Amino acid sequence: MQGVDPAWLPDGAFRPIGTRRTLIRGTGPLVDTVRGEVTEACARFGGAVVQDDPDLVLELTGEDDGGEAFTCGRRDGCTTVTATGARGLLYGFFHVVRLGEAAFLGETEPQHHRPELALRMLDHWDNVAVHPVMGQVERGYAGGSLFWADGRARGDLERVRAYGRLLAACGINAVAVNNVNVHAAEARLLTDRIGEVADIAGALRPYGIRTHLSVTFAAPVVLGGLETADPLATEVREWWAGAAARVYAAIPDFGGFVVKADSEGQPGPFAYGRSHADGANMLAAALAPHGGTVHWRAFVYDHRQDWRDRSTDRARAAYDHFVPLDGEFADNAVLQVKHGPMDFQVREPVSPLIGAMPGTRLAVELQATQEYTGQQRHVCWLGPMWSEVLRCEIAEGSPVGALARGGLVAVSNVGDDLFWTGHPLAQANLYTFGRLAWEPGADPHRILDEWIRLSFGAGPGSGPAAGLRSILDGSWRTYEKYTAPLGVGFMVQPGHHYGPSVDGYEYSPWGTYHFADRDGVGVDRSVASGTGYAGQYAKPWAELYESPETCPDELLLFFHHVSYDHMLKSGKTVIQHIYDTHFEGVAEVEAAREVWGSLVGLVDPARHARVAERFEEQLRSAREWRDQVNSYFFRKSGVPDERGRRIY
Ligand code: GCU
Repeated sequence: MQGVDPAWLPDGAFRPIGTRRTLIRGTGPLVDTVRGEVTEACARFGGAVVQDDPDLVLELTGEDDGGEAFTCGRRDGCTTVTATGARGLLYGFFHVVRLGEAAFLGETEPQHHRPELALRMLDHWDNVAVHPVMGQVERGYAGGSLFWADGRARGDLERVRAYGRLLAACGINAVAVNNVNVHAAEARLLTDRIGEVADIAGALRPYGIRTHLSVTFAAPVVLGGLETADPLATEVREWWAGAAARVYAAIPDFGGFVVKADSEGQPGPFAYGRSHADGANMLAAALAPHGGTVHWRAFVYDHRQDWRDRSTDRARAAYDHFVPLDGEFADNAVLQVKHGPMDFQVREPVSPLIGAMPGTRLAVELQATQEYTGQQRHVCWLGPMWSEVLRCEIAEGSPVGALARGGLVAVSNVGDDLFWTGHPLAQANLYTFGRLAWEPGADPHRILDEWIRLSFGAGPGSGPAAGLRSILDGSWRTYEKYTAPLGVGFMVQPGHHYGPSVDGYEYSPWGTYHFADRDGVGVDRSVASGTGYAGQYAKPWAELYESPETCPDELLLFFHHVSYDHMLKSGKTVIQHIYDTHFEGVAEVEAAREVWGSLVGLVDPARHARVAERFEEQLRSAREWRDQVNSYFFRKSGVPDERGRRIY
């Protein structure tokens, strides 16, 4: 698209295909998409779509069975992609794009590729109207919404189509187009404004992406004029069944509903004395005749907690609410669980709920939008964190990536910004998410290299690749170093969540405390003396987290309240660790900024300028974090820095 950053699909990525002869077999809309892609590449680079003597065959074998798998191999000078489903052919085509020239070298046995997770989804927290406090995109750091402008669906959906193309190229197949906090205007997308959703769905469909909608549980009341939204009331069930039927009349391949209920003030079944399973199953029943799914979010906790109340622990809430309901959810109800028990902090343990609901289809929710990880002003590549989560065997022998039978979801980091994600390097998070959703066990560093090669046209060790890798690779740990220490979380400015405020949430109702005093810091979540949260885990995690002696350093303050002179496994005291990491974190940002400076001339000037500008802000902010956190703990503890560095 003119004027918009090409992200990981620059024209040059299509040269290897565009210079060759491609034979395409099969019919249908997605095959047409593939044919259109190849035709355009050939027009640009001189190749051709041919009937014989091809270098590349892209073949849909037989009737489209809806599958997403494909087989790719190379023999006798010809590369062949076959698929039994048109979606599979589309993914096979982008597989060849990702391979680049390598797809046309030597011989390779046919290899079968299939996504490990059937649902790979982005949730947009986009509002149709601009919300007075949250702006248009809640927790959005990349401008306005891609989908909505001037109070309605964009008339020109070319950008949405280009977005669908980027998503298909990294394997994403579902998008929810509005915020989980459903305000008045957005509620009506379900009913009289469904035509606007259908337009967006129409722009995403050619790239194999299904559209989902966030709905309000109170819809029968606020839209239907009923007196109740009780999920067991016949008129309510009928209302939803009718609403779902009308949605499917407008969007036959509609994916389903996303629901945030009884959470942070959103309406839900509790008002009627019903359970979350009652609520979810009622919506599941309305969607079932049409093949749709309800994504019911597990982010349920008391957001009006009294900070004096030490018996309530927000970390426990999702487990306490949902584990008793295991086995009660309908087959087409998916429980969507945030990967950690709190709220997308830079470091959290894996949510114990994920290992404790074997009778429920779970989707795991990640946050690509960097609400608590630098808001796309800081470089923070989340690949290693997500990979750690997905590989963690939270239930015996089962990694999170396998337990997420209902799919992997990320809150989108995209807006109408020219670079899609505000910070151009935040595109790496979106790409990595898609690739990990396809293959949760994949090595994130290999994905990063792939992203660099596609986006910057350089192989490892050449051009800007080494510099980019060094900037992104450790950026999550760098961010962790200069922000809240040892898993304790938050310490952010209330409301917008950007920048440090150590006590910002300490006496608030949100349930996110660090309990620092003159002697120590951290939250005792042990069974022996604390909130008992550690006991929500299966073995070996419950035992590991229970004691400060065995708890991993990086989560120590999440699970324990310890004194400042407590000795970490690293051999440092907690207080010295806080000082050291905060100085190191800033030094690492300074070094990354230098590396970026050295890439001038090697990367597109507009990208270079945007990232350079963001690095200035990251460095300013990192210094602020360092100085506020270090000064705070120096003043509380009175313990000086061993190395005598400047603390205020
Ligand atoms: C966080 C975030 C909210 C969001 C909520 C959610 O609390 O700050 O903006 O609505 O998560 O996931 O529902």
